[in-house]
Amino acid sequence: MSENYKVLIDLFPENTQEGFDTEALLTIWDEKEDFNALMQKASDDMIKLTSVIEDAEDIRGTLKQFMWSNCKACHSRYREEH
Ligand code: HEC
Repeated sequence: MSENYKVLIDLFPENTQEGFDTEALLTIWDEKEDFNALMQKASDDMIKLTSVIEDAEDIRGTLKQFMWSNCKACHSRYREEH
């Protein structure tokens, strides 16, 4: 899953802004560094998650902290509302 994020970063190259049926907002390319930082954090947290999840007492809370919060942080900024 973490490797996937590194692949994902490459899925948003500079010249693909237009012409696709995408829900990705154009601000991604305006704020590429912020976007990549969020992606990097999600990736790092995913690695952390794999090491803490086994000992976690509150699995739901741990997942929320290390995974869903990152998904949401990015989606709420860079993904169109449905
Ligand atoms: C750094 C930013 C970022 C992070 C982190 C992120 N996403 Fe996304 N996600 C996007 C963007 C941007 C889109 C819209 C892409 C598009 O439609 O082309 C998207 C779209 C999606 C979609 C819809 C895919 C589709 O084909 O319509 C799903 C499902 C999704 N994300 C799940 C997740 C989950 C689950 C996580 C956390 C584990 C996550 N995302 C983390 C940026 C992010």
